[in-house]
Amino acid sequence: MKLLKSVAAAVALCAAVTVHARPLAEVQKDGKILIATEGQFAPFNFFNGTTLTGFEVEVAELVAKKMGLTIQWKTLGFDALLTGLRQDRWDLVIASHGITEERAKAVTFTEPHYCSGGMIIAMDPAIKNAKDLSGKVVAVQTGTSYLENVKKVSSIKEVKNFPTDVDARSALTSRRVDAWVTDRFVAKAVADKNPGAGFKLGDMLFIERIAAAVSKGNTSLAGAWNKALAEVMADGSYAQLSKKYFNEDVRCSN
Ligand code: ARG
Repeated sequence: MKLLKSVAAAVALCAAVTVHARPLAEVQKDGKILIATEGQFAPFNFFNGTTLTGFEVEVAELVAKKMGLTIQWKTLGFDALLTGLRQDRWDLVIASHGITEERAKAVTFTEPHYCSGGMIIAMDPAIKNAKDLSGKVVAVQTGTSYLENVKKVSSIKEVKNFPTDVDARSALTSRRVDAWVTDRFVAKAVADKNPGAGFKLGDMLFIERIAAAVSKGNTSLAGAWNKALAEVMADGSYAQLSKKYFNEDVRCSN
């Protein structure tokens, strides 16, 4: 019994030592920051062959460099990202999360790295705004702010959830749904890249500020990230990246 108790105590101690949010000083000592993203949300985070890239992946690289850190990337399903952050399995998440009240209860958001919103995209040009969604079936990625906001549209027939945004898009192209709601820049990129596919961009349903997140209360890490982000936003390097991906500056204007 005594032995069992001390084994249990040792296990608990180990868990307490290894599983905790790493404050800035600890990350700096290591020289590496562990960042999780999804890798299925072009042009923000995606794989080009086997290389993880995208606007926010490159923004993170710029920010980390200013912080004097190298990034160790981890890619996981969107749904697992904030959950793993709460378990302190990585230091930071950057995966186009909109700052919502609900999420802010569970994690600490940094300053936003871009502003955007959920846009309606359909094949039928008659489906343009929230009213047009009446009686329609709409595809969204599970766990996203699109899901929350589409649910609020009254008289919608059904919201279909998909594990990735790419799956939600496929549901639209194969006409299993009437519309797809995704990020406006994702929608634009898809329409631009497939000019003959018949995608029709509709209105924005809502707007949101997109930010990275750290473990709840890890203010030293969030503070250093924010300072470095402000620097890349001031020195022209953010602007250059934004131009490369979007041909416009996507930072929040306030
Ligand atoms: N902006 C949306 C949200 O806050 C969607 C994010 C989706 N991100 C992704 N990596 N699939 O929920």
